[in-house]
Amino acid sequence: MTDHVPVIAVDGPSGTGKGTICRYLANTLKWHLLDSGALYRLLALAAGQQGVELDDAEALAELAANLEISFDYSGDIDRVLLAGQDVSDEIRTESCANAASRLAALPEVRQALLSFQQRFRQSPGLVADGRDMGTIVFPDADLKIFLTADAAERARRRHKQLKEKGFDVNLADLSVEITERDARDSQRAVSPLIPANDARVIDTTDLSIQDVVELVSGLIRDQFPV
Ligand code: DC
Repeated sequence: MTDHVPVIAVDGPSGTGKGTICRYLANTLKWHLLDSGALYRLLALAAGQQGVELDDAEALAELAANLEISFDYSGDIDRVLLAGQDVSDEIRTESCANAASRLAALPEVRQALLSFQQRFRQSPGLVADGRDMGTIVFPDADLKIFLTADAAERARRRHKQLKEKGFDVNLADLSVEITERDARDSQRAVSPLIPANDARVIDTTDLSIQDVVELVSGLIRDQFPV
């Protein structure tokens, strides 16, 4: 008898289809889901609400350690609550994403959120979506997937996604912001956005979500034969 709880780590930049794939996998497998980007976004939102500067590592780490967060994935639309308040839409804005990327570069913040993220690993299994799931947070993950895609295609996908959510966004501005965030996330000294050595890298530029689902499902069948 083993108490090993399996993890599928899915990392990569935004616009690669990561979120959709992770939600699909968690629903299909009936496993838990960790949207780690939402944690960084929630911290950015809480910092804004409480007047904490985005470079004040100590205050941010303190805030991170005391975040009161809950996720509700039961309906058609995912709900994220901060101190009991539904902030699902607020955390999806580009300004929140940019603030999240800035504070995510601070080692103190990452350390403060580490055990919080690891506590999502609960039976029967976890699908973890992020930038450092396979490298730092769950280095012993059973399956590590790293999704990439051409930057212009990712910007187009994000643009479509944000428009569908009712946000007024401009594709050119979005491309610049995404490029800046990618550079910051990839070049930071701690937990940079890089594939784990043992990650399976999938370029989704010319693939539909269905194609990616099929590829990933094949990897899961190989890793977890029934
Ligand atoms: O996945 P996302 O777009 O919601 O993430 C927002 C920002 O949070 C991203 O630009 C970098 C940061 N982040 C991170 O540093 N590590 C993670 N595991 C997830 C997100």
